[in-house]
Amino acid sequence: MKKKIIIGNWKMNPATVSEAKVIVAGIKRTALKLSKVTVALCPPYIYFSDALKAAGKGKLAIGVQDIFHEQAGSYTGEVSPAMVKNAGGTYAIVGHSERRRLGESDSIIAKKVSAGLSAGLTVVLCIGEHTRDDHGVYLAFIHEQLMGALSKVSKKFLKHLIIAYEPVWAIGRSDKDAITPRLLHEMVLYIRKVLSDEYGEDIGRHIPVLYGGSVFVNNAKEFLSEGMADGLLIGRESLKPVEFSTILKIAHEVRV
Ligand code: 13P
Repeated sequence: MKKKIIIGNWKMNPATVSEAKVIVAGIKRTALKLSKVTVALCPPYIYFSDALKAAGKGKLAIGVQDIFHEQAGSYTGEVSPAMVKNAGGTYAIVGHSERRRLGESDSIIAKKVSAGLSAGLTVVLCIGEHTRDDHGVYLAFIHEQLMGALSKVSKKFLKHLIIAYEPVWAIGRSDKDAITPRLLHEMVLYIRKVLSDEYGEDIGRHIPVLYGGSVFVNNAKEFLSEGMADGLLIGRESLKPVEFSTILKIAHEVRV
């Protein structure tokens, strides 16, 4: 049984560094006790080093929400994968729909995925359709996003890749608006098939596929059990230590 991977994406929250430290400390207490979950938090850059200190050595990994596609140079305002790695970061979210909405294209995302993996980070590549239709257009869209983002990645790095399937229509909504476990299971299988067709079954089977989009304490279990996701990428609930810790325990206990 693979360890479940639970990643918190704090987005542009919280407002102060002291709140950030309290959240990390609260989550750390539970994360340290659970052997069957891998836990990472991705705070805003400005809290990165404080989060890293609060997390301490060991179970609770700290990552970032975006990276640039070059390792150094004259790029005002950007942070390179190498800097993240050298500063102690391990995970980088790439291609989140909220960044795509700001203009990030598939070709930029492809460069970022490749740069992140080459720098030794675990890259969490986000994909997800905006809407669903009855003709499977959304499947072709997912196929294109996935293959576009991986077009520059050499096969040897794929063991450090995680896919986060986050349908845009399910992000930032209520628990009732999240995907159903049955539809999620279909998507997990579809993503695995696309990866297997491209890279072979062994790789296709081993790349973790997470789900993100309105995950809460009351629906987390069904995504991991019936939905067959290898983990979760969580927004709002990752800012609440009690709720997030409960989700970690659920992931630790789930048998799939
Ligand atoms: P919510 O869990 O707040 O819906 O956010 C999901 C998300 O976008 C995580 O990356």
